[in-house]
Amino acid sequence: MEQKSSIPDKTNPDHFRIQASAAINFYADQITSMQRMEMEKTIPNPDKGAIRKKYLDLLRAGFPVDPNEILKDLFDNSIHLHDPRYMGHQVPPPYFGNMIADWSTSVLNNGTAVSEMGQFGVAIEQAVIDFLLQKFGMARGGGALTSGGSLGNLTAMLAMRENKAGSSWNQGGSNYAVLVSAESHYSVDRAARIMGWGEDGLISVPCRPDHTIDPAQLVTAMEKGSKNNKKIIGLIANSCSTSTGTFDDLQVLGKFASDHNLWFHVDAAHGGPMIFSEKHRNRLDGIGLADSVVFDFHKLLHTPSLVTAVLFKDKACSFSSFDQDVKYLWREDEQKEDLDFEIGKRTLECTRDTMGLKAISSLLIGGTGFVEHHIDHLVDLTEFFARIVSGSEDFELALNPQTNIICYRYVGSKKEDHARAKQIQDQIRNELVEEGKYYIVKTEIHGETWLRSCLMNPLTTEENIRGLLGEIRSIGSALLQGPA
Ligand SMILES: Cc1ncc(COP(=O)(O)O)c(C=O)c1O
Repeated sequence: MEQKSSIPDKTNPDHFRIQASAAINFYADQITSMQRMEMEKTIPNPDKGAIRKKYLDLLRAGFPVDPNEILKDLFDNSIHLHDPRYMGHQVPPPYFGNMIADWSTSVLNNGTAVSEMGQFGVAIEQAVIDFLLQKFGMARGGGALTSGGSLGNLTAMLAMRENKAGSSWNQGGSNYAVLVSAESHYSVDRAARIMGWGEDGLISVPCRPDHTIDPAQLVTAMEKGSKNNKKIIGLIANSCSTSTGTFDDLQVLGKFASDHNLWFHVDAAHGGPMIFSEKHRNRLDGIGLADSVVFDFHKLLHTPSLVTAVLFKDKACSFSSFDQDVKYLWREDEQKEDLDFEIGKRTLECTRDTMGLKAISSLLIGGTGFVEHHIDHLVDLTEFFARIVSGSEDFELALNPQTNIICYRYVGSKKEDHARAKQIQDQIRNELVEEGKYYIVKTEIHGETWLRSCLMNPLTTEENIRGLLGEIRSIGSALLQGPA
């Protein structure tokens, strides 16, 4: 017989206290094991079909399930970002204060699209935006937080279209294009297609050998767009590129954009936080020339997913992505000076959580001094990784890392093995990930596969890096000894 749970049980704070305390203890134990590398694997590679079946059966049965059982399944079958051997995607193990901020938003569950509902949340969100605008030399600007860099890029590109292509919001129109790096993130391509610009809406500018946009190619790229009868309205730079972590020359590109009346957008989803590092902020020189900037907290700032700032140099432009009047949300008597807090006017999301809390916690809990130390530490560690790779004759470095992203490959110890070794990088990674001890990813550079690591875990040590390279070496050399 189906059991019915009682509503008072589900809403009783004393039950919550007991359940939540048990959950916190469980999380702390799990994090401890991950940090100490007590679990054999960083990536467990579970049978997803079996999990799907188990949970479908539970759903169909309709009985209440002990939340602890679900938690255990979740942790047993997930990638362990807190394990120092995690050196994969640009996703961090969050710092504890940032996690707690995330949970607090769940307790209150205030929406923040409208100020009446968001109250504290909209105020701190705008404090974060003001702070970042000043850091980037855009002090007269405005902006908002969005759920991720992909949505952030779309939000900025909608404003680009509205400001450089006339009132597309009302009149429609898709005959536009934007110049982008050949190494831009795929969300930029998606945004152009979402706006109906099609495949010709993105004009890819070739990169120099250092993987940055080649300014000498910009004019040719513009001519290409004109041949396709597209009006080119913008230029998008990477700070930094996803794949190789390289920073475009913002000063040169910003000047080109200004000379050609193009909207200049900087995708600083990954590298934006380097503004807090005295040692590394020069990579962002020229960012003040941008009309819009995207900046992720949930990458280098160790905030739980997802929080992205979309910043506009001109505050009026921050309202131009979505030019809609929605009567049930905003009061007719709304005062102009209150508009900053009506965040739903600037973002796609209607129900949105108190993202400002997560954002501000990542900057305030340790202070910006801690943020600087954290970023410098990750970059130093990545430079160490690069030195080890460069100093090993059986490894090759794709390029010197400019942030915490590094691309490398195993080439074998004999010169005659190099050509074949280049062909087996996918196999090396597959075997490594199947083994599950270390987690890394891969990328394609000029048609060839390279191994790729983002050092996101501040507890990763030099020993872990040597351990990873040793494991790659043993997989690679065994593959090379096998049949071709
Ligand atoms: C340069 C760049 N832009 C945009 C994005 C998309 O950000 P999100 O994953 O927050 O949607 C990424 C993600 O890796 C990125 O590296």
